[in-house]
Parts: sequence; C-alpha cells; structure tokens
Amino acid sequence: MAKKIISAIDVGTTKIATLVANVKAEDDIEILGVGVVPSHGLHKGILVNMDEAKQSIATSVKEAQRVSGIHIDSAYVGVTGRHITSLNNRGVISIPRDDRLVRTQDLKRALSAARNVTVAEGKKVLHAIPRSYSLDGQEGVTQPVGMHGRRLDVETHIITASVSSIQNLAKCIRSIGIDVEDLILEPLASGEAVLTPEERDTGVIMADIGGGTTDIAVFKNGSIYHTAIIPVAGYQVTSDISIGLGLPFGIAEKMKKRYGNVTPTLELDEAAQVGLENGHSASYKDLCHIIRARMEELLQLILMEMPTSDYNALAPCGLVLTGGTTNLPGLDELGQSVLRIPVRKGRPLNTGIYGISDILQDPAYATTVGLLLWPIRGKEGAFQVKSAGVWGNFVSLFRRLFRA
Ligand SMILES: Nc1ncnc2c1ncn2[C@@H]1O[C@H](COP(=O)(O)OP(=O)(O)OP(=O)(O)O)[C@@H](O)[C@H]1O
Ligand SMILES: [Mg+2]
Repeated sequence: MAKKIISAIDVGTTKIATLVANVKAEDDIEILGVGVVPSHGLHKGILVNMDEAKQSIATSVKEAQRVSGIHIDSAYVGVTGRHITSLNNRGVISIPRDDRLVRTQDLKRALSAARNVTVAEGKKVLHAIPRSYSLDGQEGVTQPVGMHGRRLDVETHIITASVSSIQNLAKCIRSIGIDVEDLILEPLASGEAVLTPEERDTGVIMADIGGGTTDIAVFKNGSIYHTAIIPVAGYQVTSDISIGLGLPFGIAEKMKKRYGNVTPTLELDEAAQVGLENGHSASYKDLCHIIRARMEELLQLILMEMPTSDYNALAPCGLVLTGGTTNLPGLDELGQSVLRIPVRKGRPLNTGIYGISDILQDPAYATTVGLLLWPIRGKEGAFQVKSAGVWGNFVSLFRRLFRA
C-alpha cells in the first residue's frame, strides 16, 4: 500500500467509529485520531435513513479530524447486513501454451472462471477470494505462478451483496466528501484484528456480536472458508429486557451494560433488585435470565450457520467471540458449556498499534481496527473497488457520477 496516512470508517448499528492512522510499517501503526459517535439511520447493519446516517458519519469524521488535525478525504469502509451471502466455488482452466508455465494472467483467468456463478437478482459477486490452488490435481499449491502444469484449479470464497445496499452506503459516504478507498466485508476485518495466524491456519470460527448483526467468518488453512451474517445481536438482548421487564429501551440498555451477566456472580441474593440512579429497578435474577436465554439461542444460531456439523474438524481452535456484546461477563464460559467447543473472547490484538488507541482494546472496535489492518496487510481490493471487472466498473462509474 502506497499511502501513509489512512482512515477507516466503521458504520455500525449502534456506533460510527472513524480512525486516522499513520502507517510506518505493517507492525508500526500510530493512531492519530479517533471519532466515535452514536449511530442513527441504520438497522441491522443496513442504511434505512440516509440523512440521519449521513449526519452521524459526518460527526464521527469531524471528531477524528479534530483530534488528528488531518483532513480525511478517503477511507476504507465496512459492509455488513443480511444481504451478504457467500459460497465456495472452483474455477478450472487449462494452460494452453507449449511451455505449460503458469503466469499471473492464468490466475486471473482461473479466478474469473470461479466468479462465474449464478447470483440472485439485484445481487452481484463482490469478490472472489482465492483459498487454494491445485495444479494437475496436486492440491495445496499456494503460489502456482512460475510452476508448470496443464490444468489449474482455484478454490475461491465468493461473496455476494445487494447492489442497492452497497450503492446507498457508498453514496452516503461520498455525499460528505469522502472517497471510498475500498469496501471491506466486516467479518473479514474483525478476523484480521482478533485472530492469531495459528488460529487462522488450524481452523477457527470468529463471531463479532455487535448491536444489530452477528458477523461470522470461518478461517482455515490460512484463508477464509465461510462467511455469514445473522441479523440478531445486542439490540435484541436489550429489546427482550425492555419487553420482559417492562422497562424503556434506554433504561434496559443501561441495566444490561451495568448489571448484565450470563452467569450471575454478583454478591447479591437471588431475590435482589438492581437499579439505576433515576429510580428504575429490576430483579437481578430476571435480568440475567433474559440475557442468558437470548445469548444461548444466539450461540446456537452461530453454529447453525456452519457449513458442516463436524465443528471439531472444521475449527479445532473453536470459536472466538468479539464485538461490543462480548463485554457481557461469562459469555465465553456459557459458549463452552452450550456448544461444547473451545470458546475465547477476542479483542483487537495490539500488534504494533499505538497512539491514542486505548478504547480500541474494547472488543466493540474489532471491525474498526480490522478495517485499517486489511489494507495495511496488503489485502486491498476486497471488493475490487479500484480494479477492473463488473463491480470495479460499476464503482468507477459511480465515483465519476458522484465526484463533486
Ligand atoms: N458491557 C456491556 N455489556 C453488555 N452489552 C454491551 C456492553 N457494552 C456494549 N454492549 C453492547 O454491544 C452492542 C454494540 O456493539 P458494537 O459496538 O460492536 O456494535 P456496532 O458495531 O455498532 O453494530 P453492528 O456491528 O452490529 O452493526 C450494543 O448492543 C451494546 O448494548
Ligand atoms: Mg460492528
């Protein structure tokens, strides 16, 4: 990546977080500015009110600019929502030349063969991420360029998304004068921030439980294997508390954050009431019971999204939970007892990130940090915004249309 100062905007359902960083090296990243504001105009990861969302994003960007003293003119942006779907597909080509030497253009041909899948109306293949290659039937080839063979197969992970959802998000960002450097699928970003290389090699499930969506990614053999988005997360927990205990939503949210625990351990007896300064109170046992029931269900939903039920073979490293809802005490133990696989909590790994980055240690910022790490680690082009291809052409057209 050529640029030294880069920015990321995490457009979440509950918060918008903008980061500005000075990238000196892959493991030497100084955070210069952070702007976090409550999010409006989004529901379950999707834009539902353009004006409100625009206002929130603009405020977050302004704050990051004020803190860093740097004007943000472009940013990496996260994409999520139920409209995202994924599948694995194989592309096969023959190497026609006499020397049978695999060249870069052959990889491109194989990838474009793999991208050739039927997608639902209104959706587009946003990216085909190569997972592994095989040459003349020999599996596990990681870099075939320069090798000889007659037949090249590429296994890819294909991600599709609704064109209008992506268009609206990009339009919103663009309307406040910011160019979209690239659109990055949020679970890929979160995985970048919280997983170790060993976990990604051995096999791991990552779930980012945010406010409106639970973003899931499975990594195996060092690359992405499966992605899924569940439109259930912290918002639904609060909503259950609000309905179940007859509390206003805002009060239920405060109660959840202050007293919520999936395995109640407070030094309170079972009949204890917990309360807030403003006089609202609730039964501690009931509060924790509601949270636990919703989280048990969500943990099970995560495994139901897996492509196989042999979780131990798929992901020997188990499940890594991140996102704001992971702040609930005891969630990892609950996961282990309900799912019977290893579960740990993950927060952004502090590898080489410094500066005003204290809040980034919170699991709520896994995606935000990952959106910076993705391009820094040379993974630009998640959605091929800047490259050729149907989507690339669409985005360049889009950029031309909306350039001020
Ligand atoms: N201490 C806490 N206990 C319980 N829940 C918490 C706590 N802190 C934050 N949360 C919950 O985390 C959620 C917000 O998480 P996060 O910031 O990751 O979401 P987001 O990025 O805005 O949304 P999304 O990624 O779903 O679009 C909220 O539902 C909030 O209630
Ligand atoms: Mg999020």
